[in-house]
Amino acid sequence: MSETNATLKLGDKELTMPVLSGTVGPDVVDIRKLYGQAGVFTYDPGFTSTGSCSSAITYIDGEAGVLLHRGYPIDQLAEQSTFMEVAYLLLHGELPAKDALDNFSYTISRHTMVHEQLATFYRGFRRDAHPMAIMCGVVGALSSFYHDSTDITDPKQREIASHRLIAKMPTIAAMAHKYSIGQPFLYPDNSLSYTGNFLRMTFGVPAEEYIVSPVIERAMDRIFILHADHEQNASTSTVRLAGSSGANPFACMAAGIACLWGPAHGGANEAALNMLREIGDVKRIPEYIARAKDKDDPFRLMGFGHRVYKNFDPRAKVMKQTADEVLAELNISDPVLDVAKELEQIALNDPYFIEKKLYPNVDFYSGVILNAIGFPTEMFTALFALARTVGWVAQWNEMISDPEQKIGRPRQLYTGPTQRDYVPVGQR
Ligand code: SDX
Repeated sequence: MSETNATLKLGDKELTMPVLSGTVGPDVVDIRKLYGQAGVFTYDPGFTSTGSCSSAITYIDGEAGVLLHRGYPIDQLAEQSTFMEVAYLLLHGELPAKDALDNFSYTISRHTMVHEQLATFYRGFRRDAHPMAIMCGVVGALSSFYHDSTDITDPKQREIASHRLIAKMPTIAAMAHKYSIGQPFLYPDNSLSYTGNFLRMTFGVPAEEYIVSPVIERAMDRIFILHADHEQNASTSTVRLAGSSGANPFACMAAGIACLWGPAHGGANEAALNMLREIGDVKRIPEYIARAKDKDDPFRLMGFGHRVYKNFDPRAKVMKQTADEVLAELNISDPVLDVAKELEQIALNDPYFIEKKLYPNVDFYSGVILNAIGFPTEMFTALFALARTVGWVAQWNEMISDPEQKIGRPRQLYTGPTQRDYVPVGQR
């Protein structure tokens, strides 16, 4: 990283701090010595202007609508790659040669089964438990089955834990769905692709053969690619912070799942489809646009807006195109898609949304496709978590290997009472 300097004048002090440059994107002011030299903290709730780490995995240019995974544009990966290949790319930094990809896919396929006792964890949940509640619990519980891969200082153990997490998420997510509808779990069938295996475990039944639809398999694989990683978003930052304490990778991923569940983050895909269904008819769109603009109304257009993208989310463009393709190929006409397209057009021409730079994000169209494929709305965020596990695992490995990493410990601006003496209850 090249260096120039920034100067901060603070009272009678003048501090010089290095300015570091990456390969592309904004420079960063290295403030690590600020508190030691000046006795002050920076203040940045939500970390909107704070770089928490250096990373070589994903680059986002929010103004230009650019998303690169190890330098490769997301639209090229979505169009030409596969989720397994993107997983390899995120983990290892380069697109694999065919034999390396085949070996990686084979290794992952050898970890798709879960310990037989893990199935009993599901029986403790209510049948109507949200799949994300189940994912949080079951993924965290993996820690209790794999003591041989929780020593994070051992690169071999980190590798097998990474493979186990990537391989078992589809099985765990499919089991959550099966449990919710009272159908038996299906074991993985490793003669299928990663995504085909997931579709069969989710929609197949023991009573008959399940034929994977190439159209649905391709669409699902593309949706996984679009959700694989996204720089230092809230759930990835959660995984990094949990991992910085030395917590085992299974516990860290459970923390990431918990954070992703929120409607402002990964829970938005479920909330966006529910919103589109509630709107129901293009004639009701103006009513909801007005609510979204009303400062006194907590309603927000779910699937709209983004902390980083202030022009368009490149994933939303690919997702919209995929929605058109899948519904046409499945010969489904879903009025919700018409509402979504009309809502997008109205919002993109409304001064409020233009001024606030609010555009459809990755969650706006994904629900239309997932619904067409047959997933219940409650499963949408679990699918996001399944795909994002690849990004979380890649980011977690990068953090553990980063010589600069240490336990995360933000500070604060204290606004509470200054010191005062205890008052016995009889004198209060
Ligand atoms: C994801 O970080 C990531 O990379 C996340 C993600 C990933 O891949 O990991 O991309 C996945 O989480 C996508 C985002 C999914 N969430 C939603 O779709 C929920 C709806 N969107 C909003 O909650 C909001 O846009 C956020 C949380 C996504 C972004 O929040 P920001 O950038 O901090 O924006 P903000 O909340 O400060 O809002 C800025 C202004 C506000 O108005 P003012 O207070 O300035 O007057 O825009 C308004 C907001 O009221 N606004 C919206 C809006 N989003 C923001 N108004 C109406 N509808 C919306 N959706």
